[in-house]
Amino acid sequence: MIKLHDKYFKPFISAEEIDQALTRMAIEIANEVGDEIPVFVGILNGSFMVVSDFVKKYPKPCEVTFIKLASYEGVKSTEDIQRLIGLTQDLTGRTVVILEDIIDTGNTLAEVHRIFRNENVKSLKIATLFYKPAAYKKDFKLHYVGIEIPNKFIVGYGLDYDGLGRNLPEIYQIKQTEYMTNLVLFGPPGAGKGTQAEFLKEKYNLVHISTGDVFRYNIKNETALGVLAKSYMDKGELVPDQVTIDMLEAEVEKNTDANGFIFDGFPRTNAQAEALDKLMTSKDSQINAMIALEVDDEILVERLLGRGKTSGRADDADESIIRNRITEYYNKTAVLKDYYSAQNKYHGVDGVGSIEDITVRLSSVIDSL
Ligand code: IMP
Ligand code: MG
Repeated sequence: MIKLHDKYFKPFISAEEIDQALTRMAIEIANEVGDEIPVFVGILNGSFMVVSDFVKKYPKPCEVTFIKLASYEGVKSTEDIQRLIGLTQDLTGRTVVILEDIIDTGNTLAEVHRIFRNENVKSLKIATLFYKPAAYKKDFKLHYVGIEIPNKFIVGYGLDYDGLGRNLPEIYQIKQTEYMTNLVLFGPPGAGKGTQAEFLKEKYNLVHISTGDVFRYNIKNETALGVLAKSYMDKGELVPDQVTIDMLEAEVEKNTDANGFIFDGFPRTNAQAEALDKLMTSKDSQINAMIALEVDDEILVERLLGRGKTSGRADDADESIIRNRITEYYNKTAVLKDYYSAQNKYHGVDGVGSIEDITVRLSSVIDSL
């Protein structure tokens, strides 16, 4: 992984793959051009590497020239293309092949066609090493395409992010999941975690992963992981962390378009917190915060006893059981508070007040991340 300015990029297309694509293109173009001497026109700045490597592979005589256009600002293509250096030689009657590093919206290509409109060339062919079909908005024919890529920003091999990255010999892709907001939600029984998770997932387009629900789902549907988990439970053994992590990973995989996840009921130990960090790293992401709803014990007891009266949940009916559950919660989560505090990710939120007030408090923590 590399960092350029404020953004992270991960390896995407290797130097070997680029080399193979250029070899294919050189052979294809040479076959079609035949005995004519083509003029390869590189579009600066980005195409300098493509042109250099491509013409070395071109098996027959050719000419090389450049024009210089500018269209990109940061990570977005702009409509406004500036012609910085135009054509400096007469191309009347010539076979011209444009060599592009990348075709994105096609705005640059439209400008190229404008430039060549009055040049009376014999033929104008477009060759590009990279092409983003999902971003392309024009209908100019692309005669030679090296590698089609998804509509994500890339750097390397001539392509830059605000000036940096052009010198990299391979292609890196922007890491987008870095923008995910992933929360670990904590709270003693009765703190209102479930209620708040519902609001947060709506407001921030987050997916609420309640470990208990995930377990029940896998066991009920007899997924491979569910069957495995059950085999431990049937023996009265703890389900190994890795099995739980694999289930969570499956949930994350199912929801790659979410803005992030609310983990609820996991992690419960340091080892699990580390495993969760590892999982998020493998997804190019991270846990951004542990948010703990803080509610005074006496209020929790009162709330749970109240709930017990209407819900009929046996563990909500007995005050000493309730107090035990609360004590156990603090015993178990103390280590996690330390774990996330050490990374400056622990946020305690006052969980006493109206539901709306608490949502507002949670939101201000999330907005500050
Ligand atoms: P278009 O005009 O939108 O087709 O974009 C073409 C120009 O934008 C290219 O010549 C590049 O300079 C730049 N560009 C497009 N996509 C990327 C990218 O993913 N990374 C870096 N530059 C890009
Ligand atoms: Mg370019």
